[in-house]
Amino acid sequence: MGPAQRGQFKVPTLRNVAVTGPYMHNGVFARLRTVIEFYDHFVNPTARALNPETNQPWAPPEVPETVANELLKVGRPMDDRDVEALECFLKTLTDARYESLLGDDTTCAD
Ligand code: HEM
Repeated sequence: MGPAQRGQFKVPTLRNVAVTGPYMHNGVFARLRTVIEFYDHFVNPTARALNPETNQPWAPPEVPETVANELLKVGRPMDDRDVEALECFLKTLTDARYESLLGDDTTCAD
C-alpha cells in the first residue's frame, strides 16, 4: 500500500448496518445517526458543528491530505427530519433474523 492510500478505507456494506455498531474503521461513532450527522456536517457546518456523542467539534481527520473535501461538499444540507428518515431507511436494510436487535424504537413508522 503506497502513501496515497494512507487513511483510505474500503466502502463498507450497509447491509445490517443498524445492528453492527460501533461505526467507521476505528469505531469512533456509537450511533448510526451520528454517522449521518457526520456526513451532513460537510455541507451543513453550522447546524452540525458538534459531534452529538461528545458535544465537541468533530475530531480532525487522522490523514487530512487524503480526505476528499471537494466531493464531500457536494449535496444539500439535511434537516433533522431528513436525518431521521435516512436512519429509518438504513434500518430497513436489516435481515429478518436480526430485527429483534433493533429494539423497540417506534420513531420509524411502518
Ligand atoms: C447518503 C449517503 C451515505 C450514507 C447514508 C453512508 C453511510 C455510511 C455508514 C453508516 C458508514 C459506517 C459503516 C460501518 O462502520 O459499518 C459509512 C462508512 C463509509 N462510507 Fe458511507 N455513506 C454514504 C455515502 C458514502 C459515499 C458517497 C462514499 C464514497 C464514495 C462513502 C464511503 C464510505 C467509506 C469509505 C466508509 C468507511 C469509513 C471508515 O471505515 O472509516 N459513503 N457510510
